[in-house]
Amino acid sequence: MRELLQEKIDIISKELKKYIPDFDVPHARIYEAVSYSLFAGGKRLRPVLMLLVSDMLGGEQSEVLPFACAMEMIHTYSLIHDDLPAMDNDDMRRGKPTNHKVFGEAMAILAGDALLNKAFETVSAHNYMDAKRALRAINILSVSSGTEGMIGGQVIDMESENKTIGLDELLNLQALKTGAIIRSSGVIGAVMSGADEGEIRAVDEYCLNLGIAFQIQDDILDVIGDVKELGKPTGSDFENQKSTFVSLYGLDKAKAAVEEYTKKAISALDIFGSDAKTLKELANYLIGRKL
Ligand code: IPE
Ligand code: IPE
Ligand code: MG
Ligand code: MG
Ligand code: MG
Repeated sequence: MRELLQEKIDIISKELKKYIPDFDVPHARIYEAVSYSLFAGGKRLRPVLMLLVSDMLGGEQSEVLPFACAMEMIHTYSLIHDDLPAMDNDDMRRGKPTNHKVFGEAMAILAGDALLNKAFETVSAHNYMDAKRALRAINILSVSSGTEGMIGGQVIDMESENKTIGLDELLNLQALKTGAIIRSSGVIGAVMSGADEGEIRAVDEYCLNLGIAFQIQDDILDVIGDVKELGKPTGSDFENQKSTFVSLYGLDKAKAAVEEYTKKAISALDIFGSDAKTLKELANYLIGRKL
């Protein structure tokens, strides 16, 4: 699994470099700030997921690559903004000082904005085999990262600080702030591979459950993770009085929930038979992740 993931990560990082070259312009500092966070490492889970879904469905890699890059740009922008003093106020990300610590808050805000714009520039500049599919994928990308997706989740996350929320509210928070773009990564991979609606639904179900398991594991790692391995601070949720799976239900229940949602994710792929082997392995691999 590790080697396969690394192979995909390399494809994505190489492709991303093409979109963020070294510009010799008076405002070059923005490219420095963007590159700093985009190439700081990171698991590249969302674009990798997109490529793996496309592989499972026999899709053309060149059709999904612009979307894979755009997704990583949007995810990276969300992390830069998430770390700002006005949000989680964190000092470390991907093993390095956070963007605002190096470039200042104003430039970090602009770097996030720049990545968001670059994402849509990237997906709208490609000559696709099927423009209709691409338009649908662009719509999925914008909705999932917007107010009914990731941004909505970040709002609920902020508004749930210092209070006790119910399980349904917590799952909704996680399904939006983290689940939404993990979900759309898989769905876009399926759409761009020409999958039928039943296949798209199955991939969607897999990714939604995978995304919830992923965020619960993120909550666990905030408590028991190793700062060096994780590349970001631990204890941030406690400091910010966040409502997380761990703060509300404790570590044991959180660990059980990761297993439960992973199982749900895996069984959603049964319709694909042995073609789903890699995606099923990925779900199991993520249960034990330490970063
Ligand atoms: C961190 O995402 C934020 C969450 C939604 C949990 P990742 O854990 O995928 O972060 P990187 O991309 O590997 O840095
Ligand atoms: C952030 O969730 C999710 C988004 C950036 C949308 P967290 O605040 O839990 O992520 P980390 O722990 O800082 O990576
Ligand atoms: Mg946050
Ligand atoms: Mg955070
Ligand atoms: Mg977290």
